[in-house]
Amino acid sequence: MNILILSAGTRNKIVEYFVKTLVGRGKVIATDMSNLAPAIYEADKYYIVPSMTDAGYIDTVIDICKKEDIKGVLSLIDPELSLLAKNKEKFEEIGVKIVGSSYDLCEMSLDKYKMYLWLKDKGYNCAKSYIDKDEFYKAVESGKITYPVFVKPARGSASISISKAYDKESIEILFSHNDGLMIQEYLQGQEIGADVYIDMISGEIVSIFTKKKIKMRAGETDKAVSFKDERLFELIKDFVSKAGYRGQIDIDIFDIEGEYYISEVNPRFGGGYPHAYECGCNHMKLICDNLEGKINGNTIGEYKSGIYMMKYNEICIKEF
Ligand SMILES: Nc1ncnc2c1ncn2[C@@H]1O[C@H](COP(=O)(O)OP(=O)(O)O)[C@@H](O)[C@H]1O
Ligand SMILES: [Mg+2]
Repeated sequence: MNILILSAGTRNKIVEYFVKTLVGRGKVIATDMSNLAPAIYEADKYYIVPSMTDAGYIDTVIDICKKEDIKGVLSLIDPELSLLAKNKEKFEEIGVKIVGSSYDLCEMSLDKYKMYLWLKDKGYNCAKSYIDKDEFYKAVESGKITYPVFVKPARGSASISISKAYDKESIEILFSHNDGLMIQEYLQGQEIGADVYIDMISGEIVSIFTKKKIKMRAGETDKAVSFKDERLFELIKDFVSKAGYRGQIDIDIFDIEGEYYISEVNPRFGGGYPHAYECGCNHMKLICDNLEGKINGNTIGEYKSGIYMMKYNEICIKEF
């Protein structure tokens, strides 16, 4: 049973964990548009592919699937999630399962304003958000929101172009230099990350790993510590089943004086997933079992609290 990992980039650990999990069971094939993407060299085999914005991209991926007898395919980058979901049938026709959520859910998760509207409508705690700055100014005047606020691109990622704004002048400058920004209530609290697996056959959540973020660097969790809270698990279960996610997802949550606020969802492996794996939450195995037609049992909370993760740099050397 072979697995295809698209846009592997620098996610060496993710590829490595799949290789380890598939020993004696199958091969891991990885792709990237660059031969300087170190993670492809962890795989059993790799392909350099065109950019995902190329017209023939999906056909190239389909060809690799046929050639390598692929059972399941997943992407490690946001913009590719919707593209894969959109082409779900093309993959299913050749017996390949996409490890991911539906097109609509991928689109909603990619757009933080759409996500906000959904969260608000369903009654979850979340940061008040505005896409229209004049509407935001009115809300300030009527006392519905106060400075400082958080400004970020509604469809952003990797913490690019995020700012804390203290006044109208700053908002004006930010909006005059960037398109697609949104303004959010500033959340002051403990940031939490959740790595969650929703069984692709039963649709049940079977694994949740939660960690408190201690330090962030370049949009990623650099240091974190595992913890467990039954109340948080219940919130995650409720939210995830209402939304209907499938496969691997990563959720950003804030703990503000004991109240949990849902911030954003990435319906893929997050950069901090290795922490979960190293604590015993092997989601690669859950994926492989699903791809072999096996339903996974509940393993929620099967890890130790108080385990710290510290990231550090590695290098990859190649001669072409
Ligand atoms: N409303 C907010 N209040 C305070 N900090 C925030 C808020 N929204 C985001 N952040 C901070 O900015 C980081 C990046 O924002 P996020 O919405 O997760 O976007 P992405 O991870 O896609 O870049 C978060 O990890 C968090 O540290
Ligand atoms: Mg985030």
